[in-house]
Amino acid sequence: MSHTLPPLPYEYDALEPYISVEIMKLHHTKHHQTYVNSLNLAEAAYAKANTPKERIALQAALKFNGGGHINHSLFWQNMAASSEKGGIGGVLKDGPLKEAIIASFGSLDNLQKEFNTTTAGIQGSGWGWLGVNPSTKRLEIVTTANQDPLLTHAPVIGVDIWEHAFYLQYKNVKADYLNAIWHVINFEEAQKRFVEATTGSKL
Ligand SMILES: [Fe+2]
Repeated sequence: MSHTLPPLPYEYDALEPYISVEIMKLHHTKHHQTYVNSLNLAEAAYAKANTPKERIALQAALKFNGGGHINHSLFWQNMAASSEKGGIGGVLKDGPLKEAIIASFGSLDNLQKEFNTTTAGIQGSGWGWLGVNPSTKRLEIVTTANQDPLLTHAPVIGVDIWEHAFYLQYKNVKADYLNAIWHVINFEEAQKRFVEATTGSKL
C-alpha cells in the first residue's frame, strides 16, 4: 500500500510568527511530499527486486525516505498555534509529562536550554528528540543524523534541525529557531506519547 502525505492538523499560517507560512507550505507540500513519493518508489522497486544485491542497493533509499516520512509525520503533530493566538502551543500543564520533565531536568527551562545546546551541536542535518528511554522510562535528549528515525527511545518531541526547517526565516541563526519553536510545541501531544511509552496505555 502506498504512503500519502498526511494533512497538517492546523492551517499553514497557524504557527506564525514563530514558523512562517512560507516555510510551512514548502516544508509540507515539497519536502515531506518528496519523501513520501521517493519512499513509494523505493518500496515498489524493492517489491520487484529479484536478488539480495538488488534489495541491498535499495536500503539507503528506504531508510532515508522512510525516516523522512516518519519524522515529519511526528513533527507536524508536535506543534500547535501558540498561546498568544489562543492555541495550546508552548503550554505545559500540570501532569505526568511535567512531573517527568522536572524529575529528569529540574525544570522546563532547563530542558529547553539543554535541548537547544545539544541540537545546535548537530553537524550537518538531523533531528533533536526528547524521548523515553525504554529501560529506565526516563526522559532523555537524543539526536539522530540525516533522516534517521529515533529507534533507541520512544519519541515524545521531535524537532527538525535541517536548514529547510528554518533558513527562510532565521537564516544561519539556528539558535533563534530553537528558541522560537518552544512557543509552538504541543505539550498535550507530547504528554500523550509520554504516557503511551511509560504505561503502554492510551489516555
Ligand atoms: Fe524537514
